[in-house]
Amino acid sequence: MEIVWLCMVLILMQHVLAVTWLHLAKQTSLRGALRDPGVCAGLTGLVEEQVRVCRRQVEAMEAVKRGAELAVEECQYQFHSRRWNCSTLQGLQVFGKVAIQGTRESAFIHAISSAGVAFAVTRACSRGELEKCGCDRKIRGVSPEGFQWSGCSDNLSYGIAFSQAFVDNPERSRGISSSRALMNLHNNEAGRKALLAHMKVECKCHGVSGSCEVRTCWRVMPPFRKVGNVLKEKFEGATEVHPQRVGSRKLLVPKSSRFKPYTAHDLVYLLASPDFCDRDPRRGVFGTSGRQCNRTSPAMDGCELLCCGRGFHTTQAEVVERCSCKFRWCCSVKCKQCRHRVEVHSCR
Ligand SMILES: *[C@@H]1O[C@H](CO)[C@@H](O)[C@H](O)[C@H]1NC(C)=O
Ligand SMILES: *[C@@H]1O[C@H](CO)[C@@H](O)[C@H](O)[C@H]1NC(C)=O
Ligand SMILES: *[C@@H]1O[C@H](CO)[C@@H](O)[C@H](O)[C@H]1NC(C)=O
Repeated sequence: MEIVWLCMVLILMQHVLAVTWLHLAKQTSLRGALRDPGVCAGLTGLVEEQVRVCRRQVEAMEAVKRGAELAVEECQYQFHSRRWNCSTLQGLQVFGKVAIQGTRESAFIHAISSAGVAFAVTRACSRGELEKCGCDRKIRGVSPEGFQWSGCSDNLSYGIAFSQAFVDNPERSRGISSSRALMNLHNNEAGRKALLAHMKVECKCHGVSGSCEVRTCWRVMPPFRKVGNVLKEKFEGATEVHPQRVGSRKLLVPKSSRFKPYTAHDLVYLLASPDFCDRDPRRGVFGTSGRQCNRTSPAMDGCELLCCGRGFHTTQAEVVERCSCKFRWCCSVKCKQCRHRVEVHSCR
């Protein structure tokens, strides 16, 4: 069984996205086993260089797995009401199919997953779970605003460097002359930038009865949802690029000179996306038939757009809600259960 699995994966790997390591998110059998470098070779979806990173830093792999889970959850959250709902990441069978290669959807996946790894590894550092890193104790003294820096700020440098080694390596090995590799590397970096650019300062007051005589502050990462929101906006404004030789180097330049130049924070893509309307299992497209839609919304979640003009079915469903809630002195809330019927629309 194991062998059949492995062979399937190896065959798949010939022509898939460079994010097959996201399979880690789905491997439940690993709990606790990620201590022994021996497990590295058996992890589904890792390419050779990633196995090497794993052997060197096996203690960080639990965090990498967490980063993969965060990335998949966030992708599915951000895209839940769109035609492409990030279902590409749902099962091994459809994983990394070709439909989204080179598109802005692929750009988003690369950005969110490299940010996910940097985020989860940094968090593990701050919690003292890893031997090779900890929190940042170098920011010290009194800030210009008059607060005291406290001991434990999130130190992104280890997490970022780890993400670069783990996520970017498979691309580098394809050679920088590959346009797809250049695109993926750029988007990986943009994902990490979204994290770096939204670091925050958190503070705590000290002093008699809540006065704020002394304030100690430290730097923290933004919630991962924030990174997801930022990258979703970058997705909406992504720049279409094409490769161009500049001297001996190959660069990705905006496809039209009317497009604004992109920055290190923006996402770029090489190919226009398919419409994702019709089911095409061979290419990993689910199609939108059967998806729930909103009859009145003019946006992407509206039946018109989501169902690609094919129309929709309406069915009745019963929802049970808490209602007529009363506050009882003291201190409980008593509610009734109300049932009412709602219309549910789903795409033909
Ligand atoms: C953050 O981590 C890096 C790499 O582990 C280390 O070199 C650096 O000294 C740390 N920075 C601070 C300010 O603690
Ligand atoms: C995405 O859409 C497909 C059908 O097109 C559906 O089967 C799947 O459950 C959806 N996934 C998520 C995460 O919403
Ligand atoms: C459907 O879309 C409308 C308009 O955008 C919005 O006001 C409403 O809350 C949506 N309904 C549901 C069930 O999401």
